[in-house]
Amino acid sequence: MVGGPTLASICIPHGARKDDLKSLYITTAIDYANAKPHLGHAYEKVLTDTLARFARRQGVRVRFLSGLDEHGQKVQQSAAKTGQSPQHFVDGISAEFLRLWDILKVEPDDYLRTTQTRHRQVVQSALNQLHAQGDIVRGTFKGFYSIRAEQFLTEKERQADGSWPVIYGEVVELTEENYFFKLSKHQDWLRELLTRNPNLIFPDFRAKEVLGALEKPLPDLCISRPKTRLAWGIPLPFDENQVTYVWFDALLNYVTGAGSGQGKMEDWQPAVHVIGKDILVPAHGIYWPCMLRALGLPVFEQLLVHGFWTRKSEKLSKSTGNVVDPELLAAHYGADSFRYYVLREMALGHDADFDEESLAARRKGELAHELGNLLQRAGSMVGRYRDGKIPTVTKPDAVSAAFRATVLSSLRKWDELMTARQIHLALGELWKGVQAANQMIESRAPWKLAKDPAQADALDATLGDAMAALELVLEEVACVIPSTASAGLRQIGHRGDILPRSRDWPQWPVHQAGRALGKIEPLFPLLEEDQKKTQYP
Ligand code: MSP
Repeated sequence: MVGGPTLASICIPHGARKDDLKSLYITTAIDYANAKPHLGHAYEKVLTDTLARFARRQGVRVRFLSGLDEHGQKVQQSAAKTGQSPQHFVDGISAEFLRLWDILKVEPDDYLRTTQTRHRQVVQSALNQLHAQGDIVRGTFKGFYSIRAEQFLTEKERQADGSWPVIYGEVVELTEENYFFKLSKHQDWLRELLTRNPNLIFPDFRAKEVLGALEKPLPDLCISRPKTRLAWGIPLPFDENQVTYVWFDALLNYVTGAGSGQGKMEDWQPAVHVIGKDILVPAHGIYWPCMLRALGLPVFEQLLVHGFWTRKSEKLSKSTGNVVDPELLAAHYGADSFRYYVLREMALGHDADFDEESLAARRKGELAHELGNLLQRAGSMVGRYRDGKIPTVTKPDAVSAAFRATVLSSLRKWDELMTARQIHLALGELWKGVQAANQMIESRAPWKLAKDPAQADALDATLGDAMAALELVLEEVACVIPSTASAGLRQIGHRGDILPRSRDWPQWPVHQAGRALGKIEPLFPLLEEDQKKTQYP
């Protein structure tokens, strides 16, 4: 529409800003409903929740989707082990996940379970469309099948001497009639798409992994399983003897949950998909863009690929017993300390090692000592010297001007780094503002100023500036530590709700002069055993 009105210019409501119309559809991977949630699941959901909150604070209209992947062999097997029906089993698992999200203040707009009717309808209509278009065809699948594990094996599982590991029991060569999605015809398009759009995958080194996988010819994707072998799945609408392969089903959750979440294909909006590195190739990096293209839908906005948590550099795994239970950690250290730790510790995109000592140390140092104490000290002095009301700073002196400049600069850097998805560094920058406030109080020594009436202006500046800095920092860090930030804001007489920033952000707050403080209480109370005892020694 060259020269004509753009959608944005037509739709801008009177008095609104242009960028009010920005919108973000952000999703997490949907977790397998075969076991209770662990640290990896919790990190990804906290990360996505933080990005969603941060975008809202920036004035973006956000839809945040999360959910559970409830079909497939793994779930069927786990349910069978407990003697429950698969549906009953996943209902129980879903309650556990939802309880954790409630504890961790992970607040998606919608939580999708792949057993929901709205999702089955989307999967079946996508299958029908692709089948009618000739993009799904019948074919023969040949491979080695473990009767005991009830699964096909790949050459990766084969041992050096050509035999199969004993855990698989009897292995037979099997031929199966299945349906295949034609992936190969999208290969050149996908390679070009990734090469031309380096931002499609974050961090950029991950895009190379997908491009590497595209160097070999892509085999067509087997998207069905005979019901005789796997009953727990969405039936193919054009062949009742087959169910849909779990990845084909799972990826479409992003379409079902888009827009109104009513399962309408036309509601799809290119999303930012937050996923772990293990599900980039081939699922999200290859299958998903090809599926979208075949369905005639625009490709996603970005794959945001995070790394893995390890413990003592080893993979977290139930078999070695080194799993980390986020619920236990949140109960002990507080949900916000857990959120802060995982985001401060892990450089987004890279792996990180979980270390409970470091969680305890960050809570005690950065959260309780630096942030918590700032509020307590400054707040109690406002109580003592200024009758609990934030003083008006009539004449900011040179110390005040320099302090304000430091805090505003740390806020700008925080914003830049958050936008660049360097959350761990962004938090470091924000804390420079907190540290500057503590140093400012220390060097101005308000307890001395209070003894000299001639220093009243300097005392006002000290306390007023400390309160203003706290307000600025708490409003920003609320995306990481939502409950504590709101509680802290209420203590300094703010309503505690987090609204989008004003257009001229960051500005030094002046509105708070004369505002009465609430009750000052420790934001991060010291733990009883003072970090001596750990949950994971
Ligand atoms: N059900 C699939 C995803 C389908 S998305 C259409 C799945 N589920 S999962 O439960 O195995 O993993 C869910 C998410 O948790 C994935 O993004 C995965 O990368 C992430 N993590 C699992 N273990 C992890 C760590 N140890 N560390 C960080 N994240 C990890 O895959």
